[in-house]
Amino acid sequence: MKKISIADIKAQKNTKAPLVCLTAYTTPMAQILDKHCDILLVGDSLGMVMYGMESTLGVTLDMMINHGKAVMRAKPNACIVVDMPYGTYEQIPELAYKNAKRIMDETGCNAVKLEGGQDMAATIEYITKRNIPVMAHIGLQPQSVVKDGGYKIKGRTSQEIYTLINDAKSVERAGAFSVVIEGTIESTSQKITNAIDIPTIGIGASKYCDGQILVTDDMIGLLSGHTPKFAKKYINIAAEIDKAVQNYAEEVRTRKFPDENYTYHK
Ligand code: KIV
Repeated sequence: MKKISIADIKAQKNTKAPLVCLTAYTTPMAQILDKHCDILLVGDSLGMVMYGMESTLGVTLDMMINHGKAVMRAKPNACIVVDMPYGTYEQIPELAYKNAKRIMDETGCNAVKLEGGQDMAATIEYITKRNIPVMAHIGLQPQSVVKDGGYKIKGRTSQEIYTLINDAKSVERAGAFSVVIEGTIESTSQKITNAIDIPTIGIGASKYCDGQILVTDDMIGLLSGHTPKFAKKYINIAAEIDKAVQNYAEEVRTRKFPDENYTYHK
């Protein structure tokens, strides 16, 4: 299989074949996901998924770089995008570029992602003009959870629809190669997808996007607690692990494990 490039991702808009995307944070998971996916995102959702944080706001650049490196060790063919965490790009374009370059240089990933639309257009333009591919992220933006007063679904009012379409057009003009639309109602996602020539990647944004992404740990049922409506569970892996560990504990306690098959003799 050949490495999927940024150009391949952009070209997929015209073929109308939906892009398959998932999050990955570790080498073994990236190895499993890679053969099925066009894009693997080292998302800042790792703050909650891997570190038990309450939101993405405490995630650092070093955490993203370490997990980006881990995913790259899988030698993936998928296009690898690493999230820019909260506080590393919003202030000024020069700082955003410096941090994006650090992510690219230290991980060897193919692109960075940052949250924002029209408000981040100048920053996206600054970064992309210096040859770093950027994926934008509009609609529900988890890094704005405090400002927004929670995780609020977007695109219901005509004002919000107008703003979102404007956001999408702004990031496209600024040079983004694709845009994640999160937590946005179906008809609005469809309008956004039709309004721009770069692929839209939906998460809770309906089938009318050019691709779909989910947090892997949600779709395999590894996370306990609340999962959003859009996060379809394809397997309950937590229950499978529970069964295996129960079995192991039982065998250790009854001295059934380790038996001859798992024992060295001289
Ligand atoms: O951090 C993440 O996993 C993301 C996806 C939800 C798109 O940004």
